[in-house]
Amino acid sequence: MSMIRLGVIGCGGMSKVHCGTALGRSATTSPELRPYAEKVQIRGLADVDPARAEAHRLAYEGEYATTDPERIFNDPDIDAVLITTWHDTHAPLSLRAMECGKHVLIEKPMAMTEPECDAILEAEARSGVKYMVAFRCRFARGARDVKREIPRPDNIIAHARTAGIWREGIWAQDPLKGGGQILSQGCHVVDMMFYLAGAEPESVYATGGVFHHQRPEVIDTINAAVRYRNGSVGSFLGGDGGTGGLMADYALPCKCPFWVMAVAGGRSGLAIDHGHNARFESIVPETEWKPPYAKCDYSEELGQEAASGLSDILPTLARSILDDTPLPATAADGARTTRFILKCFESARTGKVIRFGQ
Ligand SMILES: NC(=O)c1ccc[n+]([C@@H]2O[C@H](COP(=O)([O-])OP(=O)(O)OC[C@H]3O[C@@H](n4cnc5c(N)ncnc54)[C@H](O)[C@@H]3O)[C@@H](O)[C@H]2O)c1
Repeated sequence: MSMIRLGVIGCGGMSKVHCGTALGRSATTSPELRPYAEKVQIRGLADVDPARAEAHRLAYEGEYATTDPERIFNDPDIDAVLITTWHDTHAPLSLRAMECGKHVLIEKPMAMTEPECDAILEAEARSGVKYMVAFRCRFARGARDVKREIPRPDNIIAHARTAGIWREGIWAQDPLKGGGQILSQGCHVVDMMFYLAGAEPESVYATGGVFHHQRPEVIDTINAAVRYRNGSVGSFLGGDGGTGGLMADYALPCKCPFWVMAVAGGRSGLAIDHGHNARFESIVPETEWKPPYAKCDYSEELGQEAASGLSDILPTLARSILDDTPLPATAADGARTTRFILKCFESARTGKVIRFGQ
């Protein structure tokens, strides 16, 4: 396969970020991924809103625009599908894409329910296609530095509270279409927490509830204590409430005060702002470990996009398809994150410690 012909389903804000990297058009794609970015060509674009699909077709020089994702799935000249729709459609569209033998890049969260996670895992194994979840923090410079410097943390503390309160009317706050702010945005940090922990969860106990919204279905505040299978422990604080701005003493380029702290034997690292930036601290002798720097702001050095790694996501899928390299985030990672958040909700509702299956 010399080129990867891409179908895009969902032509909104986030698809622009990924589509903008096709044909190597983004200046901020990493040099080692550029040859793969150059081999991605956008062919078909689908959106329930025909004007959006057509605007994307013109912007990214697609062959056709459609309101019917089936046209993409049944197109023999499409190899891979980018799914950037509302959350309730992620699982059904993923399953259909894999059924038709298409590789998939799915935006987060991969799925909204545990049965959806099970079905996607099964389809991924059965189909043999590449299935990648676009968990952006894994591509961000600061998160990667913390992972490299503190590979086996014993404490992992994660924070995903936004600087504002999510409006009731937006689709992502809708219980059926989006699942609320914790599933929609907390999932970034939950995935970064597992990425840095390098371990599966064993149990979680959470308190929380609905503090800033009207609808009782969508929990908007979670305070969770986590135990991992390798014996490490940690916490996850998620929600909105307008608290995020308190968490950073400098302007964050991504305006996301989300962070994960990893601690191990006197070494600590903090990946902040979706993992764009990082800070380190040490109380061990320099002969044992010297932090790479005290405080870094890659966004100042490289620009926000290069620091975030967003323009490396689609090219990474392309590399995996062309060279059969492992993916940084698969269905297992998507499923772990959705299950963890749902179990936090269950614990907060029941007051019980929830254990994870093997
Ligand atoms: N990684 C990030 O930082 C980040 C940021 C924003 C959004 N996202 C994710 O990207 C995805 C899209 O979010 P967005 O902000 O671009 O939303 P959006 O509303 O701007 O775009 C979504 C598009 O999907 C279309 N759509 C919905 N259901 C569809 C269907 N069944 N078939 C075809 N089209 C359909 C809508 O008409 C809309 O144009 C979500 O999963 C969201 O969580 C990720």
